[in-house]
Amino acid sequence: MKSLAELQAIRDKMKNSMNVRDDNGNKIRVVVGMATCGIAAGARPVLNGFTEEVAKRNLDNVTVTQTGCIGICQYEPVVEVYTPDGEKTTYVKMTAEKVAKVVTDHLVNGKVVSEYTIGSVAK
Ligand code: FES
Repeated sequence: MKSLAELQAIRDKMKNSMNVRDDNGNKIRVVVGMATCGIAAGARPVLNGFTEEVAKRNLDNVTVTQTGCIGICQYEPVVEVYTPDGEKTTYVKMTAEKVAKVVTDHLVNGKVVSEYTIGSVAK
């Protein structure tokens, strides 16, 4: 068993290499946390929801990917949205029902759905 510090170092290293790999310029990136805690909390239907909604609307400026541990199990399912201007929004306790609103308001119209973000849920 590795120590917590070692695991965190591995996580940071993986995150960096994933950021490089996923770094495709002017696209919006939707990243769904798919660690076991995320899957247990229902991340799979959320990931499917984003994939389907983005395909249905032909949003070719949006990529949907998955990642492992985001580090905040208690807020899973967690979805991070990265916009080309460098902004990161963290949506927490996501459900398949919430996906359409995030796609319409945020991905299409550029308006963050603040009531689903970690900022308002953690209050
Ligand atoms: S194991 Fe839950 S966020 Fe990492």
